[in-house]
Amino acid sequence: MKDLQNIKQRFGIIGNYEGLNRAIDIAVQVAPTDLSVLITGESGTGKEVFPQVIHSYSARKHGPYIAVNCGAIPEGTIDSELFGHEKGSFTGATDSRKGYFEVADSGTIFLDEVAELPLSTQVRLLRILESGEFIRVGSSKVQKTNVRMIAASNVDVTRAIDKGKFREDLYYRLNTLPIKVPSPRERGDDILLLFRKFSVDFAERYRMPAIRLDSEAKNILLNYSWPGNVRQLKNITEQISIIENEREIKADVLKAYLPDYDGVKLPAIIRKDEEKAFSSEREILYKILFDMKSDMNDLKKLVYDLIQHGEIDVPFDKTNSTVIKNLFGDTKTARVAPNVAETPAADFSSRQERTDIQDTEEIIEESLSLADKEVEMIKKALEKYSGKRKMAAHELGISERTLYRKIKEYGIEM
Ligand SMILES: Nc1ncnc2c1ncn2[C@@H]1O[C@H](COP(=O)(O)OP(=O)(O)OP(=O)(O)O)[C@@H](O)[C@H]1O
Ligand SMILES: [Mg+2]
Repeated sequence: MKDLQNIKQRFGIIGNYEGLNRAIDIAVQVAPTDLSVLITGESGTGKEVFPQVIHSYSARKHGPYIAVNCGAIPEGTIDSELFGHEKGSFTGATDSRKGYFEVADSGTIFLDEVAELPLSTQVRLLRILESGEFIRVGSSKVQKTNVRMIAASNVDVTRAIDKGKFREDLYYRLNTLPIKVPSPRERGDDILLLFRKFSVDFAERYRMPAIRLDSEAKNILLNYSWPGNVRQLKNITEQISIIENEREIKADVLKAYLPDYDGVKLPAIIRKDEEKAFSSEREILYKILFDMKSDMNDLKKLVYDLIQHGEIDVPFDKTNSTVIKNLFGDTKTARVAPNVAETPAADFSSRQERTDIQDTEEIIEESLSLADKEVEMIKKALEKYSGKRKMAAHELGISERTLYRKIKEYGIEM
């Protein structure tokens, strides 16, 4: 696509990797709309150019463009920077001052490192996104502004939400359209293109011939993990350009500039770690469900016994009837509860009956899949500890006795 090449040239974006092209394409498509955009990607992947592309291709291109690094502004002053303040609103506020949102009226604001914003500021942002309204610090006058918001983050915002550090509603409002900027390690040959571009740029800047890589060094470049992404590649190219006298760079020379070079694309491992963290989160959840379910079963059995032996009297209304039907329905040992059959309340209209049946089915289905999970978890734990029940029970967070019972109950073979 010719347009794509033009954009790349205009904004100095290097690379042909599909993921990069797609990100640029989305930026151009979304530009003329007023949708907010969230740009994500690891640190140093080149996120900063995207809001500029969006602004330049939008109807706001003649309006102001303001980039704010939310992570660099102290928490105490961020509201005043973003929304302005009135004279005397805090110590040192000798004058009133417009905030970025007021200055950027009819233009675009780029909120970089948006996950760093304090929660109280997030509330104010949400208001602007929803109604365009804001209030200067120390004022009570509601003002309006017409600003398009683009945000970026190099951390996973959903994690920040889980930790209670980022408002979910704000995330969904900002993330109307996500753009993910790929890391160079996913980009294959783009690394070589980027290296060539940077070496030519630095050669010009330092007025010396550009550095080149021999073929072994090229392979190293392609195989390195680039934890610092394009920024790291750029820095290293600059260092080598300045320090090395020999312009053709050999593998050994290059390796010396790459921290922890071991010929492995480390982030693959990092990604595995993430997966591990995720799956251990999932395992914790399963454990909780697992324990809850066995508590629930114990309670059900207890209630069932009490009812059957006439130890407690359950008054019969519609709700109780459903609960009791479920209770018995899910208890494999008893299919019909005599008390229920005798009760006139059990004789519901057929419509009520149908909903009861549906409820029961849902519950049974759910508990079945939980049982599967239980079996899976128990097998996993036993495998991990080569059949040692004590260790497996410990890992599962249940007693050895419960584990023993479950192994028998499910007929798990080892
Ligand atoms: N595709 C690219 N072509 C040319 N230069 C690039 C490319 N991607 C990144 N760069 C350069 O890499 C450096 C880092 O990019 P940028 O500052 O946009 O990273 P970032 O994604 O904002 O990182 P952080 O999350 O740490 O702020 C910049 O100097 C940028 O010009
Ligand atoms: Mg940045």
